[in-house]
Amino acid sequence: MSIEPVDLNAPERRSGAKLVVEKLSKSFGTGTGAIQALAPMDVSLEPGDFLCVVGPSGCGKTTLLNILAGFERPSSGRALLDGRPISAPGPERGVVFQQGALFNWMSVLENVAFGPRARGVAAAEARGRARTLLELVGLSSFAGSYPYQLSGGMQQRVGIARALANEPEILLMDEPFAALDQQTRELLQEEIRTIWRRTGKTVMWITHSIEEALFLATHVIVMSARPGRARASFRTRFSESQDPLIGATSEFAAAKREILQLLRSEAQLAQRQDAYA
Ligand SMILES: Nc1ncnc2c1ncn2[C@@H]1O[C@H](COP(=O)(O)OP(=O)(O)O)[C@@H](O)[C@H]1O
Ligand SMILES: [Mg+2]
Repeated sequence: MSIEPVDLNAPERRSGAKLVVEKLSKSFGTGTGAIQALAPMDVSLEPGDFLCVVGPSGCGKTTLLNILAGFERPSSGRALLDGRPISAPGPERGVVFQQGALFNWMSVLENVAFGPRARGVAAAEARGRARTLLELVGLSSFAGSYPYQLSGGMQQRVGIARALANEPEILLMDEPFAALDQQTRELLQEEIRTIWRRTGKTVMWITHSIEEALFLATHVIVMSARPGRARASFRTRFSESQDPLIGATSEFAAAKREILQLLRSEAQLAQRQDAYA
């Protein structure tokens, strides 16, 4: 088992694509103070792909995700979900951030039921759906608790259940496990894999952890230093393994090394950029 380079922009991928990113770029500010966060970038995801994006800090990962979520507008290019241009937030895209953006005044169940309720789903049905999702993320017995009563890992699980509650076409995740301790993180990674296998969702997952990317992904993109673009992309198969200790194999270590080398050179470049900015 290993990683193979792939072109995530190949014509055959675009024809069956769930998500297409087309020459997407983003600059902030104008004139001499302008910062180009994203270089024109192309990516396509097929239904059921689990794409992990890794890249040096400040390379534009969150910017890319914010554009796909509809929170930011691109400077050029466009993104299409199921062939329709993305221009605003929408329930067909479920978003989860590093820190849970839960409503502290609502119970866990109400938090998860909130999206469907806001879209006009009847209360009983929304609650039923929320209960099913809390079961999926292993939090059934916490339905009546409030977010402050939960650990960080549990809060992120609620965030994931909440994102799934709108039955999104795609999940967009920005370092959702970054604030968690290593042990919780590894357990949640296993859970996410199970949830992904069960739901078959298309996922774009940003992480700074190469291990996390290799453990979860079907595809990995390594982004360049700012302005971010896809420096390299790979097909990976470790996530197909049933072995929870796949991370301890020599194949995994070799794959990690290959990505680490790429990432290191981009991170060094980013550091030099910052030093002379
Ligand atoms: N709203 C904004 N206004 C100005 N600059 C921004 C804004 N958002 C991000 N940037 C800049 O764009 C670059 C990429 O940021 P970001 O996408 O957050 O990087 P990453 O998530 O990869 O760490 C950074 O240099 C950051 O300072
Ligand atoms: Mg970020």
